[in-house]
Amino acid sequence: MKSIVLALTLTLPMIASAAPSKKTGPAVAETAFGTLEGGGKVRLYTLTNSSGAEVRIINFGAIVVSLKVPDRAGKLRDVVLGYDGLAGYVQDRAYLGAIVGRYANRIAAGKFTLDGKSYQLELNDGPNHLHGGTQGFHKKLWRAEKVAGKGDGPGVKLTYVSQDGEEGYPGKVTLTVTYTLTAENALRVDYQGTADRPTILSPTHHSYFNLSGDPTQTILDEELTIAGEQTTAVGAGLIPTGKLVDVAGTPMDFRQPAKIGARIEAKDEQLVLGKGYDHNWVLGPRQRQQEGGVHKAAELFDARSGIVMQVFTDQPGLQLYSGNFLDGTIHGKGGVVYQRRTALCLEAQLFADAPNHPAFPSAALRPGQHYRQTTIYQFSTR
Ligand code: GLA
Repeated sequence: MKSIVLALTLTLPMIASAAPSKKTGPAVAETAFGTLEGGGKVRLYTLTNSSGAEVRIINFGAIVVSLKVPDRAGKLRDVVLGYDGLAGYVQDRAYLGAIVGRYANRIAAGKFTLDGKSYQLELNDGPNHLHGGTQGFHKKLWRAEKVAGKGDGPGVKLTYVSQDGEEGYPGKVTLTVTYTLTAENALRVDYQGTADRPTILSPTHHSYFNLSGDPTQTILDEELTIAGEQTTAVGAGLIPTGKLVDVAGTPMDFRQPAKIGARIEAKDEQLVLGKGYDHNWVLGPRQRQQEGGVHKAAELFDARSGIVMQVFTDQPGLQLYSGNFLDGTIHGKGGVVYQRRTALCLEAQLFADAPNHPAFPSAALRPGQHYRQTTIYQFSTR
């Protein structure tokens, strides 16, 4: 990998190499990551920007395996959970760092009806369907293309063609996910999808963040703000009841910064059902009214590192999952065992079970239509 970075550096004008104090410029390096049982070759893409931030992505599951951003002292910290090698990702059941789909979150009883036809999906979360199924997008080998030097920064464009009937979903879907590491230390995720028959599509990015960079510590002291005034209330199995509930006066109120741990053990029906936070916020009216652009959905701050992450999205929903099911069975990077609530996910998406709730924003995608999503994880310090 180093030699590839070096080769790119050497193609820069002499002035760049004559200034050794300057950091390496934006680059994408590609190396081997491993081979799947069926022989598929998994490649690792390392994106580096001009300030030294670095994201590593593999074309298996379109997974972010590491994300290193500077802390308040300028030292790089890896702020996402992951595994040391391909075997970990192949065995993973927690969707670490992946693109999940076709449908992120739950579909009640794995059933939905579209244009008068009923479909049955795999039941992989008790009696319900979750995150596209056990062999969803997170377990597929994607086609990858480096997009170095284009747009905002170095990137990798990943494409997956999901065949008609895959995991029970109708229609062939072509999904492209482009990860870009901007010069301002944002990881930008752009999605584009099409289908050849009516289907549903609502993928998300499932990184587990711990902004301290130390996953032996919990995220309970991290401060979170969410720009949402309501959540989609859930019942058993975390399936939405259809009701939108105001966050005011509840432990779901993150309109002002609050520590994740401050109210997580409150005797609140929703928190009990979720075993902590595992809920979808309805992003504020400002988000919903201004279509076609991204808006700030959340901000997370870790006082230990000084790292701030702002989440911008054009999606109507944001799922906060506080790592409640991490239970010490995952042996992650560097042999660290991931305990309960040592990371959290902020998943931009449609609302859970939307295909069964006509009042929720629709997940339908029909031939000729274009699915689009942009979600940005912007890093800074304070
Ligand atoms: C999501 C769900 C959680 C859990 C994790 C994966 O975020 O909402 O309930 O299933 O994925 O473990």
